[in-house]
Amino acid sequence: MSAVTVNEGGVLDLDQVMLVMNDSFDPAYGEAWTAPQCAGLMPMPGVWLSVARDGDSTLGFALGRVVVREAELLLLAVKRSSQGAGVGRRLLQRFVEIAAARGAQRLYLEVRDGNPAIKLYRSAGFSEVGRRKNYYTGRDGQIYDALTLARRAKEG
Ligand SMILES: CC(C)(COP(=O)(O)OP(=O)(O)OC[C@H]1O[C@@H](n2cnc3c(N)ncnc32)[C@H](O)[C@@H]1OP(=O)(O)O)[C@@H](O)C(=O)NCCC(=O)NCCS
Repeated sequence: MSAVTVNEGGVLDLDQVMLVMNDSFDPAYGEAWTAPQCAGLMPMPGVWLSVARDGDSTLGFALGRVVVREAELLLLAVKRSSQGAGVGRRLLQRFVEIAAARGAQRLYLEVRDGNPAIKLYRSAGFSEVGRRKNYYTGRDGQIYDALTLARRAKEG
């Protein structure tokens, strides 16, 4: 994994971000965002994008937002062929570092109940603080709850 870099990006990365988005999220669950949703949010104050790359190849990304003392992980995704190799964990760690550097004291994220990513979040110190009923609408009209997970920005 030594060739993988994680750096902050911007709207110029949107095409690559959407390729990862559409490859990684299972459309059955309605968790992925559209390009206009991403493009609308990325220039907003407090929002940042981190991109994991191997050379010219975009492997994954994280989209975060900080508002005063709270930061939210809005999206985290790694393309399927690069999953299971630690890229997601690195992007999550980067989110934590940047959020703390930007003054966040508490970190939040929402994840579909049952998403395997919950294991990653728990191992990074996040725990459940709430549940949003019927938050995601999947492809077949099936609905899923979201869990709200949180942790302190700086552990210990
Ligand atoms: C969640 C996601 C970003 C993880 O990326 P990744 O690069 O595969 O993650 P890592 O290789 O860093 O794995 C870190 C940990 O996550 C957990 N994990 C990740 N994917 C998992 C899966 N499918 N099943 C079980 N555990 C999983 C494991 O605990 C793993 O730790 P370990 O290797 O020590 O066991 C990736 O699976 C993904 O893009 N999923 C689709 C999009 C999504 O649902 N994003 C989260 C909601 S916003």
